[in-house]
Order: sequence, then structure tokens, then C-alpha cells
Amino acid sequence: MYCRSSVRPEGQLSFKLEGKVAIITGAASGIGEAAAKLFVENGAFVVVADIQEELGLKVVASIAGPDVDRAIYKKCDVTVEKQVEETVAFAIEKYGTLDIMYCNAGIMGSWESILDMDMDEDFNRTMAVNLRGPALCIKHAARAMVKRQVRGSIICTASTASVLGGLCPIAYNTSKHGLVGLVRATASELGKHGIRVNCVSPHLVATPLAITWASAKGIDNASGSGIELLASSAANLKGVALKAKHVAEAALFLASDESSVYVSGHNLVVDGGLTVVDNSINMSMEKQ
Ligand SMILES: NC(=O)c1ccc[n+]([C@@H]2O[C@H](COP(=O)([O-])OP(=O)(O)OC[C@H]3O[C@@H](n4cnc5c(N)ncnc54)[C@H](O)[C@@H]3O)[C@@H](O)[C@H]2O)c1
Repeated sequence: MYCRSSVRPEGQLSFKLEGKVAIITGAASGIGEAAAKLFVENGAFVVVADIQEELGLKVVASIAGPDVDRAIYKKCDVTVEKQVEETVAFAIEKYGTLDIMYCNAGIMGSWESILDMDMDEDFNRTMAVNLRGPALCIKHAARAMVKRQVRGSIICTASTASVLGGLCPIAYNTSKHGLVGLVRATASELGKHGIRVNCVSPHLVATPLAITWASAKGIDNASGSGIELLASSAANLKGVALKAKHVAEAALFLASDESSVYVSGHNLVVDGGLTVVDNSINMSMEKQ
């Protein structure tokens, strides 16, 4: 087992997760990768859990710095319960405890009409990764936390598709609404153990998942910069492009003691106000 108090990352003003142990699923890319980097910069020990081994190892190499034991890759398919259970056991064997489970892995699935939907290939597969996956991660992380009396923090990446219809494919949209339900239900049960469960719900961020989304939608210029342009043109809050790092910062808040007093069962939407404002009337008046 690694001695968690032996080395601190340097060049950091505050250590919001000093000595905490986190598992981040889907951490080989995009938002998960940004969270892994930010959590390590804030003093955490991170298990990068993902199905993409080569990318996962690259992420670990890029964030671990001189302290090679700060982050470690573990192959984990969140749809397979045994692998999730083994990943939790791996984190505890390696670092001695588990304080944070960040259930972030997700897939977009395909744009199918409900009229033609393939219920196995599309609907069930999307649910297996985006909803059953987090349920398995919460189950095994919470078991370990309860057993060790750890007042842990569990976070899930949902989406603005957890509160609005139409932005994304139907199965994805449904899975993210379900994820908010899962977070609230488990926050309810786990509160008595001092375990908090929350969601972070970003709007469009230029990651491989979003590029797949844009290509499948037939959006021109389905590249990183094309997606940022598209997101900015439709955004309510102007002058900033939402990046994976911004979402990771919201997850860091939920993971850290800064939110530890009473924030649980919450869906922290990171969308510049998009889901709570409707500018359509103002815009049509401006056009007239
Ligand atoms: N990018 C966006 O615009 C956006 C917006 C809202 C929500 N989200 C959510 O953010 C999360 C992260 O997505 P991202 O945008 O960083 O995409 P991404 O494609 O960059 O990362 C997703 C990661 O999940 C991993 N993954 C997929 N299936 C897995 C499985 N079965 N087991 C383990 N890992 C698996 C992939 O290998 C990949 O590394 C997802 O839950 C996604 O739904 C993304």
C-alpha cells in the first residue's frame, strides 16, 4: 500500500483534496481526464478507471509528475459489476481507503427515432453505460465507504440533457434524466452514513463524445473549435467557452470539503443559465 502522506504535489496554493483517494470512471478522455488532473493538483490520489487502456496510461503519465504513485490506471468497464467491484478493491489496496467516487463514464449512443429505435443495441447499451454503470459504481463505492465509516463524496456526470429534452439522442436523454433520479434516491439512503451524492450537469463541451454527437447530427465542422463555436452561438452566457476543466472544477467543489456541510442530492448544472432562461421572445422582438 502507498503511504498517502509522504509526497505532496508542488506549485499548488490550496489542496482541496489533500490525501483523499478518488476513483474517476471515464478518466482516459475529456471531462474525466480534466478531473483526474485537477484532483491530483489538489492533493488527491486518483484511480483512472476506463476501458481505453492506452489513453488511460497516457493520462496517468501526463498527470502524475515526479510522484508516479499519485495516479494509476485500472481497466474498468462500468457495465461489468465484477470489474467495478475489483476497481474499488484495487483503490483500497493501493491507497488504503476510498473517499470519492466520480461516476463520469458515458456514451452518446445514436440518433434514432423512437419509431425505429433498436432497443438492445441502442437503448439498452446506452442505459447500461450511462445509468446502470453509475448505479454499480455507487453500490460498490458506498459499500466500501460504509464499511470504513468514510463520510465520502459520490459525484455523477449527468448533462443539461438531464433537465431538457431534445438536445441529445433519446436513449442518452433518458439515461441522464434517470441519473438524476439515481443520485437523489441514493443521496436519500446514504445520508444516514454521512455520504453525499451529487450530479454535475454540463452543457456542450468539445470532447470526443461531443464530436461524435456533432458528426452524427450532421453538424458542419464537427471539430473541437466547431463545437465551441456552435455552443457559444447558442449560449445564454456570452464571452466564455465551456471547457472540460470548468466541469472538473464543479466536480472538485462537490468532491471537496467546500461542499461537505450540506450539499447532497443536488444537480449542479454548468450551462451559463441556458436551462433556466428562455430568450426566444426577446430574440424574435430584436429581429422585427
Ligand atoms: N462533452 C459534452 O458535451 C458533455 C455534456 C454533458 C455531459 N457529458 C457527460 O460527460 C461524461 C464524460 O464525457 P466526455 O464528454 O468527457 O466524453 P469522452 O468521450 O471524452 O469521455 C468518455 C470516457 O468514458 C469512457 N467510457 C465509455 N464507456 C465506458 C465503459 N463502459 N466503462 C468505462 N469507461 C467507459 C470512454 O473510454 C472515455 O474515456 C459523460 O457521462 C457524458 O455523458 C458530456
